[in-house]
Amino acid sequence: MVSFLSMDTVGNPPNLTPEKSHRVATSNDIELSTYLEIAKQKTGQQPVEAKEPPERPEREAIVIIDFGSQYSMLIARRVRELQVYCELVSHDTPWEKIASLNPRGFILSGGPSSVYDIDAPMAPSYVYESHLPVLGICYGMQVITKQLGGEVSPGTRQEYGHAMLHLSRMDSPLFAGLPDSMAVWMSHGDKIEQIPRGFSTLAYTENTPAAVIGDGQGIYGLQFHPEVVHTPEGKTILENFVYRICCCRGNWTIGNFIEESICRIKEQVGEGKVICALSGGVDSSVAATLIHRAVGDQLTCIFVDHGLMRKEEVERTFNTFRMNLGMNIILVEAADRFLKKLKGIIDPEVKRKTIGEEFIRVFENEARKIGKVDFLAQGTLYPDVIESASSGIKAAAKIKTHHNVGGLPADMSLQLLEPLRSLFKDEVRKVGTELGLPQEMVWRQPFPGPGLAIRIIGEVTKEKADLLREADFIVTDEIQAAGLMHKLWQSFAILTDLKSVGVMGDFRTYGYLVAIRAVTSDDAMTADWARLPYDLLARISNRIVNEVRGINRVVYDITSKPPSTIEWE
Ligand code: XMP
Repeated sequence: MVSFLSMDTVGNPPNLTPEKSHRVATSNDIELSTYLEIAKQKTGQQPVEAKEPPERPEREAIVIIDFGSQYSMLIARRVRELQVYCELVSHDTPWEKIASLNPRGFILSGGPSSVYDIDAPMAPSYVYESHLPVLGICYGMQVITKQLGGEVSPGTRQEYGHAMLHLSRMDSPLFAGLPDSMAVWMSHGDKIEQIPRGFSTLAYTENTPAAVIGDGQGIYGLQFHPEVVHTPEGKTILENFVYRICCCRGNWTIGNFIEESICRIKEQVGEGKVICALSGGVDSSVAATLIHRAVGDQLTCIFVDHGLMRKEEVERTFNTFRMNLGMNIILVEAADRFLKKLKGIIDPEVKRKTIGEEFIRVFENEARKIGKVDFLAQGTLYPDVIESASSGIKAAAKIKTHHNVGGLPADMSLQLLEPLRSLFKDEVRKVGTELGLPQEMVWRQPFPGPGLAIRIIGEVTKEKADLLREADFIVTDEIQAAGLMHKLWQSFAILTDLKSVGVMGDFRTYGYLVAIRAVTSDDAMTADWARLPYDLLARISNRIVNEVRGINRVVYDITSKPPSTIEWE
């Protein structure tokens, strides 16, 4: 029996080099926001930084100084799972920004540098001067050692993989509730030659005499990674740090987030008007619902039907927001406009550009009808914020192919309203659930902004879009019935421009070839084709050729990303 899920577990990214995609590699909703941001930049209008209202005193945070480890974001997620708010900041962040977060402690992340490199990033002095607890992980521990007078040397051999950690100081609060030996995950080249004065060794492994160090005053260093799943007791270590050492109260809950966000949005928006481009995707849906809770009818959502949505998607989304949630929502039926623009276009990038450009035109038309608008709501998430902060990638670089979209007129000077910018995707889903959004919407697989246009190989026509909608509906239906919808990153059909000969009953047919794509992935940067059960594939294939006239052959895509991409175009 072939196992269904082949991707590695969270915390151990697959050993594949993420490719630089020229397409959007994040959530489906980013597409909309990116069109709009790029558009504003084209007209010389920079997104207006929204003024942050003052932090509420009850908020507490653990601040991670990010030295660039592939695991930094995972540390943040682990801390948040412990119900403690946590943010990643770069090592040159000024104290004023940190102070506004109300920090209770610091974590210094791992990173690819060596502390003796000339430009090696170090912890800012406030980390030590604040007298808040500090936990250095891997490179972070070496930074502590170097900055506080110890010695780090290049290791003669790398230590990578499992190791047995033996505790020598069971009484350390960091080790409360732990056994005296445990498996940990090591990944380092350099090693601590001499620990700083005032520190002692709290635990060791066979190859690393100083695997955990502490100064007895709240500063700790770990040579291993507590955040990965291969350190099974890692969660307890982080829990001990945030609760026993930093004395956090653990008030980062979804309920608190919602309550706090509603207050902030009310303060920020005041009497202003907000517009939101809704796509039916998780991020814009949750953002809109949250804003609606805060300011009600001051929010207007614009939902553009470009004729390339999946079967029943437009009606379902519209009804959910209008009927169930009682929102102000304008449905713009623009399928003809988009199809006319797409006529004769076969190049995937030109399809994207054309759709992006048309989207802005339609959105702008509708927005103008509303009158004066003050805010543009977007479903930006925390990973996007981190990515653009750490790599300097601005919205324009996210979709290179959309640089030439026309742009919103300069007189529409809109402030950004991004209520989800501190959240990870799983937290957004929890907020959506708590706000009462249907589970089907909260757990929706990503769907690209250009929709079915990039799943129809060659020219897009209404007939082809209708064929694909039917085939895709069957895939969705069967995947859902098999209970696999949430286990797959994406599953869908592609209408190729290839026709082949078939036979049905006594008749020869000449119909389209449809491909099925189903992948597992953590972030869409890499993906593996899903080992779907054969009988499921057989049901999908049978139903498509029997129920969709015009399609007579079905194939299953068994390539991973890289070297393929998830979408075919
Ligand atoms: P690829 O095909 O590059 O896709 O492996 C990675 C992820 O991005 C989505 N995708 C897009 N999303 N506009 C979007 O909003 C696009 O033009 C686009 N192209 C790809 C894709 O569905 C997958 O989740």
